Amino acid sequence: MTVQEVAKAIISAEREAGGLMLHARHIMAEEKTDPRNVVTEYDRKVQQHMINTLSALIPEAHFFCEEMAHPDSLNVEHVFIIDPIDGTMNFVHGFGHSCISCAYVRAGVPSAGVVYNPYRDEMFSAVKGEGAFLNGRRIQAPDLPLEQCVTCFGSSPYNDHLTDKTFALLRKAYTVSLDIRREGAAALDLCSVAAGRAGLFYELELSLWDYAAGAVIAEEAGAKCFTCEGEALPYDGRKSSVVAGTPQSVRTFLSWESI
Ligand code: IPD
Ligand code: CA
Repeated sequence: MTVQEVAKAIISAEREAGGLMLHARHIMAEEKTDPRNVVTEYDRKVQQHMINTLSALIPEAHFFCEEMAHPDSLNVEHVFIIDPIDGTMNFVHGFGHSCISCAYVRAGVPSAGVVYNPYRDEMFSAVKGEGAFLNGRRIQAPDLPLEQCVTCFGSSPYNDHLTDKTFALLRKAYTVSLDIRREGAAALDLCSVAAGRAGLFYELELSLWDYAAGAVIAEEAGAKCFTCEGEALPYDGRKSSVVAGTPQSVRTFLSWESI
């Protein structure tokens, strides 16, 4: 099966799962580790739908998903990395800005990414080496300097130790760029970079399922994605910082390392 065929299957699975999100009623948040880290029955339903559909496609595939008690190992030929609802806090509070995020890693190579925002019916997709698309139309991140860009950031809400540094960077980004946004779904932030809406995105701690698909899409659109130390993003399951943006904006951000 080609990577393109796998990407098509992810697109149709996410579109179906988007219906579950749009028709959700009486959404009850259950606390995972603390009041900021929550899950709902819909996260689990979407995840199950994705696993059922994609394991029918590739029975031997492994799944590395946010709402699994024990995600599968990543060292196999076919792996799907899934955040069933990225932006769960938005989902619970009715902000209408959440998505389903799924990356496909073949033989250790992040080969496809698909991120679907059902509220705007926006399907972002990319296959490695073939460019990035929004609802089937090619998207490109322009190489603008940070001064001409909007900055998105994530607050790393599950790690209080990162708050001071996050907001020191935010002050700097606010000063240099046009304005700032905290939209609440890292996968969609990366897609905003891909679509040229935001010129910079950073967050000091994310999980692999938050960034795997969005990073493939952003890179295929011509954006740069690194850890905030300027290294390649890890795909071994560790949490990581992420900076993404136009090549010029990312260079500027990485020059602030002393903050
Ligand atoms: C969260 C969102 C949020 C980011 C957090 C993520 P979740 O994912 O992407 O924007 O700030 O770091 O964990 O928990 O809603 O899937
Ligand atoms: Ca999630």
